[in-house]
Amino acid sequence: MSKQITGNYIYDVYESSENLSKTDKDLLAKAKEVLANAYAPYSNFNVGAAVLLEDGTIVTGNNQENAAYPSGLCAERVAFFYASSQYPSKKIIAVAVSAKTEKMPINVPVPPCGACRQAMAEFEIKFDSPIRVIMSGESGEVFISPSVSNLLPLLFSSKNLGK
Ligand code: THU
Repeated sequence: MSKQITGNYIYDVYESSENLSKTDKDLLAKAKEVLANAYAPYSNFNVGAAVLLEDGTIVTGNNQENAAYPSGLCAERVAFFYASSQYPSKKIIAVAVSAKTEKMPINVPVPPCGACRQAMAEFEIKFDSPIRVIMSGESGEVFISPSVSNLLPLLFSSKNLGK
């Protein structure tokens, strides 16, 4: 005997960043701004992330690569870890992500990788509060997920460790 569990995920699709709320538009603008400082000589794929904290503080990050490839880190984790290291008790409300590369124009939203979803979900659980994920390319549609866990079914968390 077995039973099958199904789930679904949801996200809002905005026709362009012009249609976002002012808060989201400003956060996304920051993510787009800071991708210029990415250290991405190997992929030439610059990613920027901007994290909004409960008091309005915005913490940014970008991808930092390394000659030993796996030693690099994605923009989202740079931003989240920096936010947590500087403001450990401030709740994280939202994150905006965008990317740019010389190889092609990016006109579709850039979704956070699986490892970043896992890392970001930690803070959703820590603060017991959803973190909105705003995903964008250079242009085109913008996707907004109401939470990180919405993008990560069956996530591994502190609950699995009995905490
Ligand atoms: N990258 C990010 O910074 N965030 C993501 O969510 C996806 C990938 C970076 C890692 C690497 O430096 C480059 O983009 C190409 O994968």
